[in-house]
Amino acid sequence: MSKLFEPLTLRGVTLRNRFALSPMCQYTAKDGYASDYHTIHYGRFALGGFGLLMVEATAVSPEGRITHGDLGLWDDAHIPGLARIAAFAKAYGATPGIQIGHAGPKASIQRAFEGNGPLNAVDAARGEPAWPVVSPSARPVTDGWLVPTALDANGIAKVCADFVASARRALQAGFDVLELHYAHGFLLNAFLSPLTNDRSDEYGGSFENRIRLPLRIARAVREVWPRDKPLFVRLSAVDGSSSGWTIADSVAFAEALKAVGVDVIDCSSGGFGVYEYPSGYGFQLPFAEQIRREAHIGTMAVGIIVDPRQAESIIASGQADLVALGHAALRDPHFPLHAQQTLGAVGPDAAYADWNVQAGWWLDHRASKLVQLGPWAPMKDAAANSHKD
Ligand SMILES: Cc1cc2nc3c(=O)[nH]c(=O)nc-3n(C[C@H](O)[C@H](O)[C@H](O)COP(=O)(O)O)c2cc1C
Repeated sequence: MSKLFEPLTLRGVTLRNRFALSPMCQYTAKDGYASDYHTIHYGRFALGGFGLLMVEATAVSPEGRITHGDLGLWDDAHIPGLARIAAFAKAYGATPGIQIGHAGPKASIQRAFEGNGPLNAVDAARGEPAWPVVSPSARPVTDGWLVPTALDANGIAKVCADFVASARRALQAGFDVLELHYAHGFLLNAFLSPLTNDRSDEYGGSFENRIRLPLRIARAVREVWPRDKPLFVRLSAVDGSSSGWTIADSVAFAEALKAVGVDVIDCSSGGFGVYEYPSGYGFQLPFAEQIRREAHIGTMAVGIIVDPRQAESIIASGQADLVALGHAALRDPHFPLHAQQTLGAVGPDAAYADWNVQAGWWLDHRASKLVQLGPWAPMKDAAANSHKD
């Protein structure tokens, strides 16, 4: 019996299975607005059987965008475009979630597929200028990144208020899961990590001080995010340097997040240009497993998960509660439904029962014909189609 296809209930929300679409920036928004592209892009994964669709990093303020193409939630006018994605997901059985974030010292860059470097004069000439970036300290993430301005008390208060306002808008747009982006060297990760946080006030220095702002934001968001809806946090479980944030820090922080009402830690890693860990198949799984075991909180595993059997064993062995797919989902938006067949987690005469009926009904009817025909082979096909005069 497959564990991967068992539903998961978090607070008042039930996910149909353990597959999540990992948040993935599309860099295709204009002024933060979602378009038809986004509805169709995310719609494919709803039709493909994912339990949870996590919409990409969506900026809580214009200056918190990574690129000019990021989605935004800093204005009520952004709500309708995102609401279409959420409504479509629900109509086809997927749970819509959204990741909100602030890029901090990694803001103001070119789209990945347009260079991935600092915005330059050519970008400015075509209407996409660079903007000043902020961080806990006036220190770049690593060589080659912009030198940020250190946030002052007003700036910190604004970031917190922006997260809360965006959370309210995500709710209005119809999302059932909210994820706070505290990973990958972006603003809140930069507060957590000793590699980027040199502050000498109550937001820097000790572990308690470095977690203060991320924890304050999680607490404030929890107050406006309904009690019956789950709240996730994506962490860089380690920042990758032996002198940086450690897995023990993540366990302790996960305990603190749990205490303020966070339900799931989405376990990623890195973001600071160093990575002193192996990075093969499922390389971040040990983080998800350890945080789940030691902090007694739900976890989502992510990172080079490519095979249905790999995904099944992650859930069956209790390493994580959810499996998030990035590249594998881009390659095959129907990954969960294909996995269901590969793992034999379907009824004998209804292999397509969980597909959207507009496709599944036809595919189930064609299935018996294909059994009759046997596997296609080039020779057989040529003979069947040849004409004799
Ligand atoms: C195109 C693309 C965009 C991404 N954007 C985000 C993002 O918006 N937020 C985030 O936390 N991670 C982002 N990531 C990281 C993925 O969510 C995921 O953690 C990573 O790709 C590893 O999983 P994979 O090996 O299954 O792809 C992105 C990755 C890709 C490939």
